[in-house]
Amino acid sequence: MNKRHIVFLTGAGISAESGIPTFRDSNGMWGKYDAMKLASIEGFRENPQAVLDFYNARRKNLLEVEPNHAHRVLAELENEYEVTIVTQNVDNLHERAGSSRVIHLHGELSKVTSSRNKLLPDNIKEYPLDVPIRLGDKAADGSQLRPYIVWFGEYVDKMDEAEYWVKQADIFVVIGTSLVVYPAAGLVDYAPKGIPKYLIDPNEMEGVLPLGFQHIKAKAVEGIDRLVKEFS
Ligand code: OAD
Repeated sequence: MNKRHIVFLTGAGISAESGIPTFRDSNGMWGKYDAMKLASIEGFRENPQAVLDFYNARRKNLLEVEPNHAHRVLAELENEYEVTIVTQNVDNLHERAGSSRVIHLHGELSKVTSSRNKLLPDNIKEYPLDVPIRLGDKAADGSQLRPYIVWFGEYVDKMDEAEYWVKQADIFVVIGTSLVVYPAAGLVDYAPKGIPKYLIDPNEMEGVLPLGFQHIKAKAVEGIDRLVKEFS
C-alpha cells in the first residue's frame, strides 16, 4: 500500500527550542536588528560588511546548536509516511535530524553563491560554517561571494516546487511560523480541501489561522507528540 504523504511547513518556531531565536517573538531577531538593513538586497548593496557580519554570526551559531525532538520526529515519520518538509528556515537542523526531502524557501546558511547570478546551480556551493565570508572573497564568476539566502526584495525561486508538494499532501501540518511573510505564507492555501490540517504554535494565531486547521497550542517539542497521537 502507498504510504500517506505528510507535508510540513515549518518556520523559526521549530528551531526555537534548539536555541535559535525566532524573528517576531518578544525576544526575536527583528526586535534587535533591522531586517531591512541586514536581510534585504538593498541592505547588502548599501552595507555589505554589516550583512556579512550578521550572517557569519548566524552561520557560526549553527555549529553550536542541535536538532531537537520535533526535528527528529519529523525524520522518524519517514518510516511510516512519505514526508516532505517545506521550511522557511535557513538552518540545517531538519537535514541533521535525518529528514530526506527538505525544500528551503529562504535559502541555506551552509551554502554560498555569487552576487551576480545567485540562482545558477553551478554557483551554489557548500561552504564551511566556521569560515567567515569576507568582503573581497570571490565566486567563480569574479563577483563578491554571498550567503545563499533569499533576502527581502529577492525572488523566492523554490515556490513552484513547494506548491507542487503541498498540493500532494494527504495531511498538512504547519509548525512555528507567524504566517506573515509572503509568498511562503500563501502555501497554506494550496493544501487540498478536506484533508486533515494542523498547526502547532504556542501562541494565539487569531487572525492568521487559516480555515480548517486544528490548532495544537504548544511548543514544537511538546506539540509534535500530541500531533503523532492524533494519527494513531
Ligand atoms: P516568526 O518569528 O515570524 O514566527 C515564529 C512563530 O513561531 C510564531 O508564530 C511563534 O508563536 C512560534 N513559536 C515560538 N516559539 C515556538 C516553539 N518553541 N515551538 C513552536 N512555535 C514557536 O518566524 P517565521 O514565521 O519563520 O525570512 O518567519 C518567516 C520569515 O521571516 C523567515 O524565514 C525570515 C523572517 O524574516 C527571511 O529572513 C527572508
